Amino acid sequence: MLNEFRTQLPIFQFREKIIKSIRDNQVIIIAGETGCGKTTQIPQYIYENDPNVKIAVTQPRRLAAMTLAERCSLEKQTKLGQLIGYNVRFDDCTSKETQITFLTDGMLIREFIIGIFVDYKDQQLKRYDVIIIDEAHERTVQSDLLLGLLKNLCRRRKQLKVILMSATMQIEKFANYLETEAIHIIEARTHTVDVFNVPIRQQDYVESMVNTILQLHFTQPEGDILAFLTGQEDIEDVKEILIERMKISNQEKQLDVKMLYSALPPEVQLEAFQKSVHRKVVLATNIAETSITIDGIVYVVDCGYVKIRSFQIGKAIDTLLLAPVSKAQAEQRAGRAGRQRQGQCYRLYTQQTYERLAKYMLPEILRVNLLSVILQMKAIGIQNVLTFDLIDRPDMELMLANLNQLVKLKALDSEFNLTEHGKNMSSLPLEPQFSHFLIKAYECGIFDLALNSISILQVENLFYFQRGTKESMQKILAKFKIANSDHLTKANILRKYEETQNKKSFCKENCLNHKTLQKAMSVKQQLKDYMKRIIKKEFEKEDYDKFKQVLSEALMFKHAVYSPSDQAYKLKQTNQLAYIHPESVLFNQKPKYVIYNEVILTKKVYLRDVTEIDEL
Ligand code: CDP
Ligand code: MG
Repeated sequence: MLNEFRTQLPIFQFREKIIKSIRDNQVIIIAGETGCGKTTQIPQYIYENDPNVKIAVTQPRRLAAMTLAERCSLEKQTKLGQLIGYNVRFDDCTSKETQITFLTDGMLIREFIIGIFVDYKDQQLKRYDVIIIDEAHERTVQSDLLLGLLKNLCRRRKQLKVILMSATMQIEKFANYLETEAIHIIEARTHTVDVFNVPIRQQDYVESMVNTILQLHFTQPEGDILAFLTGQEDIEDVKEILIERMKISNQEKQLDVKMLYSALPPEVQLEAFQKSVHRKVVLATNIAETSITIDGIVYVVDCGYVKIRSFQIGKAIDTLLLAPVSKAQAEQRAGRAGRQRQGQCYRLYTQQTYERLAKYMLPEILRVNLLSVILQMKAIGIQNVLTFDLIDRPDMELMLANLNQLVKLKALDSEFNLTEHGKNMSSLPLEPQFSHFLIKAYECGIFDLALNSISILQVENLFYFQRGTKESMQKILAKFKIANSDHLTKANILRKYEETQNKKSFCKENCLNHKTLQKAMSVKQQLKDYMKRIIKKEFEKEDYDKFKQVLSEALMFKHAVYSPSDQAYKLKQTNQLAYIHPESVLFNQKPKYVIYNEVILTKKVYLRDVTEIDEL
């Protein structure tokens, strides 16, 4: 049955043409609407044509890599991780037999970097014969960098085949950059989507979203709803209000509310894909815009906004900003409605607003902090990162600022050459500050403490509060609290978890998420393995002052001072005001100097994972 399904996909008509094009060209471009079969079919066509070929397919997101590998395994009737597998950060599901690997862009870049530890000249990704960069139109920093690296690699490995896949946008730009004329545009049989805009500007898109969903639900014929929101916060708000209103509506027609955003645990994300007895509404972020397909969607509601990472020169931080979507994104979102039959898209913004939207979103590489990418580029052996041929070149001033930060972290010497320390840093799958911290902590003999701290900070959703529990987050944190530091307190939680015999009841007692802690333990093991290359001898002391000192040095661009007149913290780099997150051990404590992991923007600007220090 799946075979029949496969031959009915629009891309099937192009099978022979594409196989031939790959044979005749080194670089080819395949563009087509979401759902036409690019991602799941092309790797299988290549494999069916020649079962000896090893194929890598990159995805911007973990979830996409995982679900796509699963889907293809199902179509090929093999077990996930055998013929077809995936490899994402801290989770490798491939084996010796694997011919088709779905991986994140970041993981493929890591393979370039790992190459330097084997042989400096052997960064040729020789384990793959075909490399597919998927969703290239998303223009993430990682996929842009990959395109640059592969463009170079093609000159050195004439047998390598590179395939760029994207939605139907900016194809000319890709073709010019990659110097190829082998372009295939897959015309898909899509159904028409009727688009409706609101007549007047909406004050509150959460309220407007709830009303639109309920109206659709009560008045329109069957079909599931996909609602685009911006992040966990508004998704949870909409969910809560929807459930409330459904309760008081006294209507027979039930509605299943599902959520889909990247911080959700994978098993909860997968619920959004399951068929539901009643009408289903999936509240999603832009994660559902292009890379994944949810069956049964007939109605789309688009709030018109997206959260983007953004960075300003002189401000050494990335912040999440709420921004209007681009026209291209609005079209993508609408397109999700017309997959199986004629659909409808409701935009919670006016026609005039739509007209004023930018055509495309500014590529990520032009708007985010490049510290990590620049270190990666250095590690790969790119001598002059300022002149490296990228599809869009970032601001010089920003790149220079980042180079100088890397000098301060001792990853580069004063002439911007990679140091031994920098090489070690780049081998760890962490942000440069944290790899610096982990290596320094090892050198100071507080490795286990630092490792526990970093490992637990890599996982989301540490706590799990069931409805009706009387415990509060602050009460639980107080039990584990160490030295006015979230970094140390969380390290302590992981240590206690590790030492406890009965882990499940320990978690239950302390409202901790068992799965999350298991994950943190696995991260810890993997980081330990990565560190093996660096670690020579092990000795360990329990020195909290040293811990803070090393951390404060690593987070030198993330210091803040309490300003009594503002009743808030001033970030040292930017003078921006921020508050300590309610989930911190330092909430309401107002210590004078703090360091923090990240600034997040939700209802307020918050500092998350904070540690008190004595001085700046
Ligand atoms: O990459 P592209 O957007 O062109 O399509 P695809 O991901 O290869 O998906 C092709 C078709 O396979 C979709 O239209 C879905 O009907 C189906 N599919 C699915 O049912 N479950 C998945 N996890 C992925 C795809
Ligand atoms: Mg795809």
